[in-house]
Amino acid sequence: MTTALRQTPLQTESSETLDPPNWDELRSLGHRMLDDMIDYAADIRGRPVWQPIPDDVRARFRAELPRRPCDLDVVYREFTDFIVPYATGNVHPGFMGWVHGGGTAVGMLAEMLAAGLNANLGGRDHIPIEVERQIVEWMRRMFGFPETASGIFVTGTSMANLMAVLVARTTALGRPARQRGIGDDGALLTAYASKAAHGCIAKAMDIAGLGSDALRCIEVDRYHRIDVDAVRERIALDRRSGLKPFLVVGSAGTVDIGAIDDLAALGSLCREQGIWFHVDGAFGALGILSPVLAPRLAGIEHADSIALDFHKWGQVPYDAGFLLVRDGESHRAAFAQTAAYLRREARGLAGGSHWPCDFGPDLSRGFRALKTWFTLKTFGTERLGAMISRTCALAKYLETRVLAEPRLELLAPVNLNIVCFRYRAVDADEINREIVADVQESGIAAPSSTTIDGRFAIRAAIVNHRTDVADIDALVAAVLDFGARRAGDGLIETEAPPLAAQ
Ligand SMILES: Cc1ncc(COP(=O)(O)O)c(C=O)c1O
Repeated sequence: MTTALRQTPLQTESSETLDPPNWDELRSLGHRMLDDMIDYAADIRGRPVWQPIPDDVRARFRAELPRRPCDLDVVYREFTDFIVPYATGNVHPGFMGWVHGGGTAVGMLAEMLAAGLNANLGGRDHIPIEVERQIVEWMRRMFGFPETASGIFVTGTSMANLMAVLVARTTALGRPARQRGIGDDGALLTAYASKAAHGCIAKAMDIAGLGSDALRCIEVDRYHRIDVDAVRERIALDRRSGLKPFLVVGSAGTVDIGAIDDLAALGSLCREQGIWFHVDGAFGALGILSPVLAPRLAGIEHADSIALDFHKWGQVPYDAGFLLVRDGESHRAAFAQTAAYLRREARGLAGGSHWPCDFGPDLSRGFRALKTWFTLKTFGTERLGAMISRTCALAKYLETRVLAEPRLELLAPVNLNIVCFRYRAVDADEINREIVADVQESGIAAPSSTTIDGRFAIRAAIVNHRTDVADIDALVAAVLDFGARRAGDGLIETEAPPLAAQ
């Protein structure tokens, strides 16, 4: 092989570069792509929110690996014809499922610029890392963390929560546990979160080797907030059994209904008990930008770590999760590693330690910070806060519509931006499951579903900055329409009392 390579003379006049032979052609196609995607966002209301994928379209994506080149405009046509129409739909104002941000044209452009720079933010001394550090600093100040704090962009809050569990685990067991493994001491660690906490916390405990059973799922009150006294009692019980409580996770916006735990009470409990206090603020933490919501997050400033997503209420295009840790040294102790090929220097490109790879599992990392930086600078926190407040006002409007409509039933208090309701019917679980699919397939709106107190609920999470009153009205009209068709228009009363908000 080596001999063969040596014998083949290198053709200096040819090359295997992947750059285009004609930059002007690429430029004009690139401009068309940009125009098309700007039109896509500008004209999004003219499209269905979502539509089922036809079999022949799905089959196109079961093709053989391409061996030969293909013209870019042909590949682009496949994108416009077979990918764009069948996307998730969260750019559309009628998208209210799960907790999906709508993205912005600004974020889209920034993503293109980031791809152009093709920076690797694992480490080294370059300005993209300073952009990320700038956002860490902004978040530190926003959440009232000390100067010792550290932070890092990650894919999403599932990853940020996992990393917080790992930091808390290493803090509890000591750094040597990273070499030895978690051993017998690790088997004694227990964590606490509410029954309404996101499933990724239990998954994080599992991945961290502590086991999901070691996560105590604590009762909630009628507003779905963790029962702090029950946490205290469970910690005491576990200690009496010889276990080692090490972590409490508070939710700043539960996934089902947007409940915010009493973060101040959880924080003081953790300080009193010497336990790591993590806040899952996937979407709710950015509520701190809204003057209406910020007081409800009181106590978040005492957290040891906060996980949040800019791609939800922050409207940064996917993905842009973030972890903020009060004590940067504890954060680094959980992930930093030495390797000759990653040696840090006092000068040159290998300078600028500490590197982001010291604060998480990833070495190669993209420039997620750029689209976040553009978003924060272009819109400013006041405007983002006003947008967040407005999504909550729209949820209140939906609640009013549900309460005013005898055929609909509210299933949970509306505390934030999430409304859980359903069509009243005899087989309500079954019929509402069908209604959700009917509404999604109609392309009018895209709610999701959940179960509240054992009852199937239509769940509308108003996260998208484009959503407005007309979109809420369209959702209600569609639910009533499909509900009447499914239930044969029989009006069935249930005994559930109306719910007041927190
Ligand atoms: C409260 C909460 N925690 C965690 C997550 C997971 O976040 P991600 O999807 O960014 O991993 C979500 C997602 O909706 C959430 O609502």
